[in-house]
Amino acid sequence: MLSWRGKSLNIGGLTAKLPIIQGGMGIGVSLSGLASAVANEGGIGVISAAAIGMLEPDFSTNYIEANIRALRNEIRKARELTKGILGVNIMVALSNFSDMVKTSIEEGIDIIFSGAGLPLNLPSFLGETRDTKLVPIVSSSRAAGLIAKRWLEKYNYVPDAIVVEGPMAGGHLGFKSEQIPDPNYKLEKLVSEVISEVKIIESKAGKSIPVIAAGGIYTGEDIYRFIQLGASGVQMSTRFVTTEECDASLEFKKAYVDCRKEDIGIIKSPVGMPGRAIINEFINDVNIGTKKPYKCPFHCIITCQYKSSPYCIALALANAKKGKMKYGFAFAGENAYRAERIVSVKELVTALVEEYNNAEMA
Ligand SMILES: Cc1cc2nc3c(=O)[nH]c(=O)nc-3n(C[C@H](O)[C@H](O)[C@H](O)COP(=O)(O)O)c2cc1C
Repeated sequence: MLSWRGKSLNIGGLTAKLPIIQGGMGIGVSLSGLASAVANEGGIGVISAAAIGMLEPDFSTNYIEANIRALRNEIRKARELTKGILGVNIMVALSNFSDMVKTSIEEGIDIIFSGAGLPLNLPSFLGETRDTKLVPIVSSSRAAGLIAKRWLEKYNYVPDAIVVEGPMAGGHLGFKSEQIPDPNYKLEKLVSEVISEVKIIESKAGKSIPVIAAGGIYTGEDIYRFIQLGASGVQMSTRFVTTEECDASLEFKKAYVDCRKEDIGIIKSPVGMPGRAIINEFINDVNIGTKKPYKCPFHCIITCQYKSSPYCIALALANAKKGKMKYGFAFAGENAYRAERIVSVKELVTALVEEYNNAEMA
C-alpha cells in the first residue's frame, strides 16, 4: 500500500489515517460490508440507517422493530470485521430518526452523520459519557451556523465536524432545482463559506471543527484540491458504489458502470426534494404518468407526499439495491458515469492515494 502523504483526519479525538469518509448510502447500499472495508483501509466507513430493516422478514408488518434489529446487527457485524472508525448516517427526515440514533449510541457507534433536515436535537440523545461523535451534514453556511448555535446554547455541545454537501452529490439534495446548476452553489464556494462560519463558532467554543467537503469528489486530485481550499477531509459515495464490497447487487453496480453522462439527471422525489439518479425506464414511466398511486407501506420519510406520489421511493430504491432495476432506479452522483469497472476497496483507496500524491507533487 502506498503511503499517504497528506494529513490525517481528527473527529472529536478519533483519528482516521485517510481523510476520506465513505458517505452513507440508504436502502441497503452501504451496510457493514462496505463500511468495514473502508474502515480497514484507514478511512471512515458509514452504514446508512435508511430502511436498513428492508431484508428482515417482518419489515412491512413490524417496521420499527425490524429496523432497530437490522441496525444493531449491521453495527455488530461491521465491528467484527474492523477495528477502524465506523459511523452511521441517519437522516433527520426519517420517521424512525430517534430509534436509529438511540440504537447507534447504545451500540457504541463512533460517529453519527445526520442531514436531510437540521439535526437540532441530536445531542439530546447522548449519555453522560458523550462517546459517540456528532457530525451534521449541511448544504449552506447558514445551516451550519444555526445548528452550532442551537447545540451550544441548549446542550453545551459543539459539532465534532461538519460535512458540507454540494449539488453534485447523489441521492436527495438540499437544494432547490434551480440552485443545482447555479455557480453560486458550487461546492468550492460552499466549503469556503462554511469554513468562515466555522471560524466564528470555533472562537466562541474554543474547539476546532473540521469541515468535510462532499458531492462530486471523485479522484485523489479532487481530494487534494479541497484540502488545499481548507477542508480537513472529504466524503465520497459514488466512487465507492463500484466496489466489490459495496452492499448493493451486481446489477446496481453495473448500472453505474454502464451509464453515460447524459443518463444522470435530477428527479422530483416524492419526499419533496430533488434527487440525482441514473434515469431509466422506471423514471421515464413515472414522468409520462404511467405509474399509479400506491398504498404506502411504511411512512418512512416524514415529508413524503405518499398520498399523491405515483410510486414508493423506498420500494423503488430497495428493488434497485436488490438488482430489480425494472422496478426501481439507482441514486447516483454527477460523476457516476466515470466508473469503468468494479474494483476492491483496497484497489480504489490505493488509486486515490496515488492520485493525491501525484497532485501534491505536481
Ligand atoms: C446511492 C446513494 C444513496 C445515498 N443515500 C444517502 C442517505 O441515506 N443519507 C444521506 O445523508 N446521504 C445519502 N447519499 C448522499 C451521500 O452520502 C454523499 O454525501 C454524496 O453522494 C456525496 O457525493 P458523491 O456521491 O458525488 O461522492 C446517497 C448517495 C448515493 C449515491
